[in-house]
Amino acid sequence: MGLFHIATVAALAVCSTAAPAEPRAAKPKSFLKDLGNSTWIIGNGIWNMTQGRQYGVKLMYKGKDRVGPTATGHYVSYNGAASDLSWTSAAIADSGKDWINVKFTAKEGDFHWVIYDDLAGAYQYFVNHALPTLGEFRTLWRLSNTSFPNGHTNIKDGALPALSEYAAATNVQDETWQKADGTFLTKYDWAAFVREQTYYGVYGDEVGSWYINPGKDYYNGDHLKQELMVHRESKTGDAVQLNMIHGTHYLARSSDNFTDGKTWGPWLWYLNDGSKSDAKKRWKKEDKAWPYSWFKDTAYQSRGSVSGKLILSDGRPAAGAAVFLGDSNSALSTADQGKDYYYTAYADKQGKFEIDDVRTGTYGLYAWGNGGSIADVTTSFVKNDVVVAKEKTTHLKTLDWTVTDKSKRIFQIGDFDRTSRGFAHSGPTPFEHGRISNAPGNLTYTVGESSPSDWYFGQTNLGTWSIKFGLESIPESATAAKLYTSLAGFSQGTKSNILVNDKKIGNISSNAVLLVSSQDTYRGATQAGEWRNLQWDVNKELLKVGENKVDIAVIETTRWRGWLWDSVVLEWV
Ligand SMILES: *[C@@H]1O[C@H](CO)[C@@H](O)[C@H](O)[C@H]1NC(C)=O
Ligand SMILES: *[C@@H]1O[C@H](CO)[C@@H](O)[C@H](O)[C@H]1NC(C)=O
Ligand SMILES: *[C@@H]1O[C@H](CO)[C@@H](O)[C@H](O)[C@H]1NC(C)=O
Ligand SMILES: *[C@@H]1O[C@H](CO)[C@@H](O)[C@H](O)[C@H]1NC(C)=O
Ligand SMILES: *[C@@H]1O[C@H](CO)[C@@H](O)[C@H](O)[C@H]1NC(C)=O
Ligand SMILES: *[C@@H]1O[C@H](CO)[C@@H](O)[C@H](O)[C@H]1NC(C)=O
Repeated sequence: MGLFHIATVAALAVCSTAAPAEPRAAKPKSFLKDLGNSTWIIGNGIWNMTQGRQYGVKLMYKGKDRVGPTATGHYVSYNGAASDLSWTSAAIADSGKDWINVKFTAKEGDFHWVIYDDLAGAYQYFVNHALPTLGEFRTLWRLSNTSFPNGHTNIKDGALPALSEYAAATNVQDETWQKADGTFLTKYDWAAFVREQTYYGVYGDEVGSWYINPGKDYYNGDHLKQELMVHRESKTGDAVQLNMIHGTHYLARSSDNFTDGKTWGPWLWYLNDGSKSDAKKRWKKEDKAWPYSWFKDTAYQSRGSVSGKLILSDGRPAAGAAVFLGDSNSALSTADQGKDYYYTAYADKQGKFEIDDVRTGTYGLYAWGNGGSIADVTTSFVKNDVVVAKEKTTHLKTLDWTVTDKSKRIFQIGDFDRTSRGFAHSGPTPFEHGRISNAPGNLTYTVGESSPSDWYFGQTNLGTWSIKFGLESIPESATAAKLYTSLAGFSQGTKSNILVNDKKIGNISSNAVLLVSSQDTYRGATQAGEWRNLQWDVNKELLKVGENKVDIAVIETTRWRGWLWDSVVLEWV
């Protein structure tokens, strides 16, 4: 055996002895070189990377090492840094005339790099064999902070804060520091809604490193799934580019077991000169090409469509409803589902939807209001056992969605859409550490006079939020009333009592069964986290003709913890 083994020999220049026609330059080929002792080099004529047992380092691109001497490089890990995958072998699993597919094997599964000869970057995917039950599973780059000083997501762009700023600040909670001027530094500022991403990554004047994930069916969770995307590593200063392919950063308890063969990706890891417009162009190209015809995987290629029309039981079309194709007959919320493949869409004005390129299988179809003309709808729609067959469209025709009688509504504050949108300070950015602390302790909302912008996106401070409403009569037909305190998120540590005309009828406080803490308000989420619709029976006798009130009285508080409001509704039943 030689010092190293060249798995794919670089093509030799094609020389012709005949008359010098067009001089053809040697086309640089993609390669895998085995250096022995669990060290390999992969790449092509444009870039290459040295892969060790766990970490991919020495990312050579545009004449420099873009990981550098101090950053960690590329790796795959689950459930935090304790479990970085360890590669036991590497091989070219497949190849074509201008590409190779390099497979790195770990006991949990295989990580692939599909390297085209002329591509700055590579397509990557992971095939599960034996991952444990997990919440977090990610691939990532920890890169040179001089080459990549800036971060970019669809909602945030700019310099990553310098490591020196962290050193000068005081740690106040999980990855969050307070600076001398009172402002905060936190990696969670760089979170975003994963299913809204186009291209994101880290970049500088010379180079950019991007993730472009056109298909998003391998992610867990629904439309409102948020994740950390890029950040400054607070211990080492690395520029971090995350690919959270299964994540729980804003959820309560998403934890899944995966079947042997579950595949994440392929997505594109893309290198360029740092240009965002070029990365955007590449996103458009990849989005058009998805699902990738070059990916010769039977299950991946086996896809169909689902269409239907959602009509509310009061005759209205479910205009703009959020539509989710997920697990069939599941006890989990749409946010918590994550073992398989998931698709999201929105219905049109007529309540019609079509979801294409769905992997064949049996799904549950879920829908809920997303504001607009159905912002009053407190119920969700579910239909199980929806079968998607290869190259066929499953026409579900008209789907009847049972809603409560609108004429029985006493009041509603805010759209029932699983988010805090519309309330004061829910935006413009959906993330800001500590914004919830600025919400008032006491607030009075007068039905008929106040508007949703007088209510705040989140509640944490001691005091009472009072809803005043008048009743002209108590309907004979009503047996009781029902109060919905619909929460867009909830982080335990703050408690409130719910009172109707000074009588306690319920509470908002952590509960192992009914209200499990999610990691949203304290990580600066201001629009969504994990949605929970709490419902309370209100005795008819508690309500009276004339002025009435509902109080949400915070009796215990923990800094930055509390809940995000979706909607408050009272109706007769
Ligand atoms: C093999 O790699 C290990 C760990 O990186 C190192 O300690 C050892 O010296 C290497 N052995 C050889 C023969 O290069
Ligand atoms: C990796 O790239 C560097 C810089 O372009 C080059 O010098 C080196 O030979 C490449 N390594 C391999 C194995 O091709
Ligand atoms: C980059 O990383 C180095 C090495 O850890 C660190 O000393 C430096 O402060 C970091 N730079 C920035 C801008 O954070
Ligand atoms: C995953 O599998 C383990 C072992 O088979 C089982 O105990 C656990 O309940 C499963 N978890 C989930 C979330 O399905
Ligand atoms: C809220 O109102 C109560 C009772 O009027 C008062 O004691 C408390 O100081 C108020 N809290 C704030 C934060 O204004
Ligand atoms: C809060 O409400 C839940 C659900 O109704 C109930 O089980 C629990 O006992 C209540 N806790 C308190 C402290 O009132």
